[in-house]
Amino acid sequence: MKIVAINGSPRGKNSNSNVMVSAFLTGAQEAGAETVNIFLAEKDIKYCRGCYSCWIKTPGKCSIDDDMLGVLSMLAGANVIVLATPVYFNNISGTLKVFMDRLAVTGNPLSKKDAKKENNAPSAPQATTKLMIMSNCGSSNKSQFEVVSNWIKKVTSLMRTDLIGEIYAAQGKNLSSSSEELRPAVNKYLQVLENAGKEVAVDLKLSKETEKLLEQGFI
Ligand SMILES: Cc1cc2nc3c(=O)[nH]c(=O)nc-3n(C[C@H](O)[C@H](O)[C@H](O)COP(=O)(O)O)c2cc1C
Repeated sequence: MKIVAINGSPRGKNSNSNVMVSAFLTGAQEAGAETVNIFLAEKDIKYCRGCYSCWIKTPGKCSIDDDMLGVLSMLAGANVIVLATPVYFNNISGTLKVFMDRLAVTGNPLSKKDAKKENNAPSAPQATTKLMIMSNCGSSNKSQFEVVSNWIKKVTSLMRTDLIGEIYAAQGKNLSSSSEELRPAVNKYLQVLENAGKEVAVDLKLSKETEKLLEQGFI
């Protein structure tokens, strides 16, 4: 079992997103999974120029030379990809969106129609690669995740795969808080995230009980 997390917070390792992802991956590792934690903030990934070179002129090869190819190679063989993002203006972060747009190189519809065309595209996440989303926001209002939830469902459908978990934490700053008062509730939540990682590593899904506890947040 290989689980790859892609952290789309510009705050990288210091992000609340990373507190969530790290707990989840710790659980997955304990259950025997190989895990990879990628911080987009540490990568040079430029925005897609929409030139379609990767589909038409040089199929499978993006015209931009940056870290994208390296990140794609780290996704190879993943059974689960966890996309993590803070809520920015009710949406995913720009950092994650720039990365997602660059996946165009993996989804050339022309390569399927014309098998003779040379196509060295890095392989797209396969139908066997399940997706998960993890997000946190500043507000205490869970409606902040509506766009993110809608977006990940569309992405999953475009990639013809399954969404096996949506984990949303309101008041995300609590995750990194040093408040003694908050610590017990946060630790309890992180323990649930670890269990979630174990469940996904073993069963490729979350139990109803874990989903319920995650839904409750920090209490
Ligand atoms: C540019 C920007 C936009 C934001 N927009 C929202 C928002 O629409 N709703 C919200 O609840 N929090 C919003 N926040 C707060 C972040 O979601 C919050 O600080 C989160 O904990 C950051 O997570 P991270 O540490 O993983 O990056 C915004 C923060 C920034 C910097």
